[in-house]
Amino acid sequence: SIIHVILTGGIGSRLWPLSRKSQPKQYLEIFEGKSLFEMTVERNSHLANKVMVIGNVDNHHLSEKVMSKTNTEYLNVVEATPRNTAAAIAFAAFAAKPDDILIITPSDHIIDLMDNYNNAISEAVSKAEEGFIITFGVIPTKPETGYGYIEAKGDKVISFREKPNETTAKEFIARGNFLWNSGMFCFKAGVLLEELKQYQPDVYEKSKAVWEAAKDGFLDLALSMEIPSISIDYAVMERSKKIKVVPASFSWSDLGSFESVYEYLVSKGHSIDSNGNMVIGCECHTTFLGLKNTIFVHTVDANLILQKESSQDVKDIYNELERQN
Ligand code: GDD
Ligand code: MG
Repeated sequence: SIIHVILTGGIGSRLWPLSRKSQPKQYLEIFEGKSLFEMTVERNSHLANKVMVIGNVDNHHLSEKVMSKTNTEYLNVVEATPRNTAAAIAFAAFAAKPDDILIITPSDHIIDLMDNYNNAISEAVSKAEEGFIITFGVIPTKPETGYGYIEAKGDKVISFREKPNETTAKEFIARGNFLWNSGMFCFKAGVLLEELKQYQPDVYEKSKAVWEAAKDGFLDLALSMEIPSISIDYAVMERSKKIKVVPASFSWSDLGSFESVYEYLVSKGHSIDSNGNMVIGCECHTTFLGLKNTIFVHTVDANLILQKESSQDVKDIYNELERQN
């Protein structure tokens, strides 16, 4: 089978206060009454014959609502606590048969140009059949530090570098043969598990133990805490020799930080003043004095005022608030 695996474990803490544990960004119905999660389900529905949702105890009821609204049958995996994407993807692979092809997608991306998207996925599926792990390469537009970089030559991957610092990111852009990793992957379940076993045996063994002890897709908390928290990018993509890249000729936007939300909103005609300041979440008249590239985010119980360039640091504020609670 071809299985669409939706990763929906994240809180989207870089978008606090819009996004929170009780209402992560992928479930906010901000696109003509639809959420990013629902759009993800619809976008892939004709590309796969099964669906798995890998979420957690705090959000599985939100996924359930969308799945029944869209009338989609699915296998539900409910993590007791997020243990990062290496483990989340391992659960999906353990739940599948070794020869099943998994299309892994996050649940919080904006994708356009559907014909190109469909073609890229079919190309990925046929390369996955041959035993490769497929990444999708996006042409970079700036030295973003929040993404993975794929050093490519045609469909060959020379190296994969997750979240470089700014100096390194600038160097990658200058060298010209680096692509952004879109965060979507395609592979045979068995191939991914072999690679994980080879490069992160501890994650492999502990995730396996958790999966084997699962009850109706619900995972045990104490056992889960044993799994090292590492992303699939660091765990496998930076090391595997089986990686290939398919060009992402579709339009792609990761609404991961306020900087990318800002750019997306500007492209949709949302207003900014002559100094590049923007208001999100409030219709009331707002004036920025002596400020440049500032974003004011309003919600009923919390405001955030930030310099656009500080977007990656919003995560730290969220973590600090979590600690205080
Ligand atoms: N089920 C589950 N469990 N899902 C998770 C967990 C977890 O523990 N942790 C993260 N996720 C989900 C997130 O909700 C998101 O949909 C996806 O997995 C990726 O996690 P992020 O936390 O958003 O990763 P990132 O944005 O820092 O980096 C990844 O995506 C970039 C592009 O958006 C990497 O793959 C980068 O290389 C890539 O450039
Ligand atoms: Mg992300």
